[in-house]
Amino acid sequence: NKNILTDSHGRDHTYLRISLIERCNLRCTYCMPEEGVKLSPKSSLMTYEEIYDIAKTFVEHGVTKIRLTGGEPLIRKDIPVILEKLAALPVELSITSNAVIIDKFIDVLKANGVKKINVSIDSLDAAKFKHITRRHEFEKVYNNILLLVKEGFEVKVNAVLIKGFNDNEIIDFINFTKDLPISVRFIEFMPFDGNKWDMGKMVSYAEVMQYVNASFSEENIERLQDAPNDTSKNYKIKGYKGSFAIISSVTNPFCDSCNRLRLTANGQLKNCLFSSTESDLLSTLRAGKSIEPVIKKAVQAKLKMRGGMDTLNKLQQPLLYSKNRSMITIGG
Ligand code: GTP
Ligand code: 5AD
Ligand code: SF4
Repeated sequence: NKNILTDSHGRDHTYLRISLIERCNLRCTYCMPEEGVKLSPKSSLMTYEEIYDIAKTFVEHGVTKIRLTGGEPLIRKDIPVILEKLAALPVELSITSNAVIIDKFIDVLKANGVKKINVSIDSLDAAKFKHITRRHEFEKVYNNILLLVKEGFEVKVNAVLIKGFNDNEIIDFINFTKDLPISVRFIEFMPFDGNKWDMGKMVSYAEVMQYVNASFSEENIERLQDAPNDTSKNYKIKGYKGSFAIISSVTNPFCDSCNRLRLTANGQLKNCLFSSTESDLLSTLRAGKSIEPVIKKAVQAKLKMRGGMDTLNKLQQPLLYSKNRSMITIGG
């Protein structure tokens, strides 16, 4: 594909993450400020037709994978239509959800070819789950993970680790993969506007492996081959049905193999999770102009690593990361 979106560091961008909505039915502390975020007026959010039109242009430029995110993508009222429209494009369509209401969408997800679902759950303890999400939805999420597996979806479970809060559950999470064919991914806590991040609260890849090495013998810990462009370093315990992984954006960034672009619910293209510059695709589309040159320019401008926060020192500067959005309006 001669139209492929290659940046100035030679990276081909074949994976588009589309945030469908800025709102969520949970209130995770690491994702949004307690007081909430300023929401875009409804008129500046993409309609399902606009989502389709923009996505189609990306597909014409080599995108082969689209992941729907939020906020919580499933609380968008027209989610069935969005799935149906995007399913008509030649892409792998997947979704990242908190799974609180996903049991209502099993059929529509299946009908539109969604096979892979990533679910966020940061604790296997109901009281802790309530504490981090500020909502009482643990049972629903837990049961829905079991339901998704039973229904044949390929499920990854995302757990953001926070020191002193859920790092004591690392082994419980790994044992969750003993009889369940899921991948549990431990995520290094990342800094965004209003999420009270500090390096001391982050549990690193190395620390996760210390817990693992203390609980399992070396010959039972298997390093798996990572998929190309994978965000995670994958492992499994021999004999377990599932696997586990670490997403180490802070201590071992994977920017060299980055293939990801992001579209926000209000139609802004972000060339990196950590980039604070955005390109207004929606206004361009609404003005009847081609979005192609805007996309190409944004991809060309992509920085080599973490939107320019290429050292741990820079990553720790609130003046830099606070220019970026809150995670809830980026979608991960
Ligand atoms: P797969 O498509 O299954 O590989 O999932 P994914 O890891 O791309 O997506 P998911 O939505 O499950 O995100 C899991 C975690 O990885 C979240 O904390 C994301 O913020 C993080 N993540 C996803 N993409 C990127 C990325 O491009 N850069 C960084 N630094 N983190 C990312
Ligand atoms: N650091 C790391 N991961 C985060 N997520 C949300 N906020 C953060 C953060 N500050 C994760 C969620 C979800 C995924 C899309 O992004 O847990 O699984
Ligand atoms: Fe890509 Fe930016 Fe994530 Fe690095 S931090 S992997 S460049 S999106």
